[in-house]
Amino acid sequence: MKRIGLLTSGGDCQALNATMRGVVKGLSTAIDELEVYGFDDGYRGLIYSKYRMLTSKDFSGILTQGGTILGTSRQPFKLMRVPDEKGLDKVGAMKQTYYKLCLDCLVILGGNGTQKTANLLREEGLNVIHLPKTIDNDIWGTDMTFGFQSAVNVATDAIDCIHTTAASHGRVFIVEVMGHKVGSLTLHAGVAGGADIILIPEIPYDIDKVVEAINRRSKAGKRFTILAVAEGAISKEDAKLPKKEYKAKLAERAKKYPSVSYKIAHQIEKKTGNEVRITVPGHTQRGGSPCAYDRVLSTRIGAGAAECILEEKYGVMVGIVNGKIQTIPLEECAGKLKMVSPKDQLVKAAKQIGISFGD
Ligand code: F6P
Repeated sequence: MKRIGLLTSGGDCQALNATMRGVVKGLSTAIDELEVYGFDDGYRGLIYSKYRMLTSKDFSGILTQGGTILGTSRQPFKLMRVPDEKGLDKVGAMKQTYYKLCLDCLVILGGNGTQKTANLLREEGLNVIHLPKTIDNDIWGTDMTFGFQSAVNVATDAIDCIHTTAASHGRVFIVEVMGHKVGSLTLHAGVAGGADIILIPEIPYDIDKVVEAINRRSKAGKRFTILAVAEGAISKEDAKLPKKEYKAKLAERAKKYPSVSYKIAHQIEKKTGNEVRITVPGHTQRGGSPCAYDRVLSTRIGAGAAECILEEKYGVMVGIVNGKIQTIPLEECAGKLKMVSPKDQLVKAAKQIGISFGD
């Protein structure tokens, strides 16, 4: 007999349901008695004891379904130790729900912040397993997160569509890709979509180098230029600022421009006289059905989690390393961010074929 709790926390992505399906099918195939409790809207459900009992029927037909059947919410890690507006001790409340339901384990699907709270619950003595979801692929300790490849496909499709219209009008186009701190999604979609310039947070840009790249293309007779710009792209100048000053600058920028792309567009227009248009695929990158790669990865990660539960191996993240499903202790990976190295082979290859990073 196993009694497990499931929750999805933080920003959603395409393969959350596929992963939960993997966990539950992996367990129900191996054991006769299984109770599954699904918590509503992430940690909120665990804190306020909002849950429902799920059966195997709930996990049928959801392999291809985007979003999450449980709902999700953002519950910042830094506020977990802070009582709620009514003075409720959130950590204490989560433990109470866990013990009330006599759970063997909590399976927690989420990104970096979610993982930090999962680790906190581990430290508090709960049995937890974390499964790495995020379109950002920025979780340290796993080569891949589910959701990433699906988002790469969506962002790539956006760049593909922009190609035809950019060519017709002879314009400069910016496609703004999700990723405030990490540029993996922009890098991959930029390369897959054939962007000419890729700007990511890990490689601060010099606007004059960006302009040089655009002018170089014009001189070579190219009618258009496409930039893939991460939400968190940062100039060389801003990258030198202390964190606090940079935050203040961002607040100032927000009064004038909705995002970094609008500022870059304005600078390019001023310096080149080119017309610039901006496309922001936004949350479409997290929406829709998971791609085939993610369905396979989620199934493997879900089955890996089921195996951990059967072996009573807790306090881990189930990830993929060098093509193999592996467990990584939460105490080792929680709180670490996986960023793109400027020396990454993909960055090198992109530069080799003439893509500019504005550096
Ligand atoms: O962490 C996933 C992510 O989609 C980021 O890429 C993006 O910057 C952020 O979430 C957007 O968050 P929200 O959905 O809360 O606006």
